[in-house]
Amino acid sequence: MTSVTGADAVVLVGGKGTRLRPLTLSAPKPMLPTAGVPFLSHLLSRIREAGMTHVVLGTSYRAEVFEDYFGDGSSLGLEIEYVVEDEPLDTGGAIRNVADRLRADDVVIFNGDILSGADLGALVATHREAEADVTLHLQRVDDPSRFGSVPTDADGRVTAFLEKTPDPPTDQINAGCYVFRREVVESIPAGRPVSVERETFPGLLSAGARVHGFVDSSYWLDVGTPEAFVRGSADLVRGLAPTSALPGPTGEVLRLDGASVADGAVVCGGTTLGAGAVVGEGARVEGSVLFDGARVDDGAVVEGSVLGSGACVGAGAVLRGVVLGDGASVGDGCELLDGVRVWPEAVLPSGSIRFSSDA
Ligand code: GTP
Repeated sequence: MTSVTGADAVVLVGGKGTRLRPLTLSAPKPMLPTAGVPFLSHLLSRIREAGMTHVVLGTSYRAEVFEDYFGDGSSLGLEIEYVVEDEPLDTGGAIRNVADRLRADDVVIFNGDILSGADLGALVATHREAEADVTLHLQRVDDPSRFGSVPTDADGRVTAFLEKTPDPPTDQINAGCYVFRREVVESIPAGRPVSVERETFPGLLSAGARVHGFVDSSYWLDVGTPEAFVRGSADLVRGLAPTSALPGPTGEVLRLDGASVADGAVVCGGTTLGAGAVVGEGARVEGSVLFDGARVDDGAVVEGSVLGSGACVGAGAVLRGVVLGDGASVGDGCELLDGVRVWPEAVLPSGSIRFSSDA
C-alpha cells in the first residue's frame, strides 16, 4: 500500500447496527468480535499501515465502549480521539461534528463496517492530483443492482448519484470511504442530522463542486448483515481479506485461548473459536464465528452462523445461516435455517424447532 502523508482519518462508528441484532444489543457493530478481535481493529490496522496516525472516532450508540477498549490508541501506534453525539447525527452530521478535531488539509473518512483492500495512498494521491473537493472510493461489484451506483466521466469526475435500479448504467458503487478537503467538512450544516449519501454528495454535485471517483476492484465487503458478517470474518481468518490485526496465523480455523475441539470434530472454512469455546465430538463447524465461551455439542452441525458469548448448540442440532444471541441455548436435535435470529438467553427445548419434517 502506498503511504499517506498529511491526512487525518475519521471513522464513523455511531450507527445502531439494527441489521445485526441481536448481536448489536450488547456491542456496537464495529466492536463485534471478528476473526478474534473487534471488527474495528482490522480497519485501524489498515489505517496505521497506510501511515495515518491521527484518528478521530465519531461515536454515538454505546459510545463508551470504544474508548474503554482502544484508549488513546498508543498501543496500536495511533493517536485516537473520540467525539460523542448525544443524538445520532447520521453520517454527514457525524463528519461535521468532528471538524474541530481535524489538523490536516485532507481527511480520509471511513464507514466503520467495511472491509477493504483499497490502496489508501493511491486514493489520497488521486484526490490531490485531481484537486478535488471530495474523492469517493468507488468499488466495482458483480451485482450493482443491489446498490445505488455512481457513474464517472472520462476524467474520473462523478456525474451522478443514482438510486438502486434493476439495470444500473455502471458497476461502480459508493464503497463507504471518502477523502474530503477540510473546508468541505466545515461546509456541512452543524448540529442536525445530515446524510452524506443523500444530502451532502448530491448537494456538492449540483453546486458544481469537484467530486471525483477512485475506482477500485480489490477486496471489498460491507459487513452490515449477519450473512456478510460471517463471510467477512471467515475471509479475514483465511487471509482473503487484508488485515494485520489477526491474532494468529491465517488458515481454516482461528482458535483463541482455551478453545477446544474434541476428537472427530471438523472445524473449517475460516471459523473463529473464541476463548474457551468448545466443539464436541463429531460436530462440524464451518465458516462460523463462535464468541467467547460458546459451545457446540456432539454431532451438531453449524454453518455460516454466529454464536454469541456463552451460546450453546445441543447435540445433533443443525444451524445454517443463524444468529444466536449471547447466552441463547438451542436444544438437542433442533434445526434452524436461513436467517433465524435467536434472542439472548432464549432457551429452545430439545427437538422443539425443526425446518424439515424428516425427523
Ligand atoms: P443498520 O442499522 O444495520 O443499517 O447499521 P448502521 O446503524 O451501522 O447504519 P449504516 O450501516 O448505514 O452506517 C454506515 C456507517 O456509518 C457505520 O459505520 C455506522 O456506524 C455509521 N453511522 C451511521 N449512522 C451514524 C450516526 O448517526 N452517527 C455516527 N457517528 N455514525 C453513524
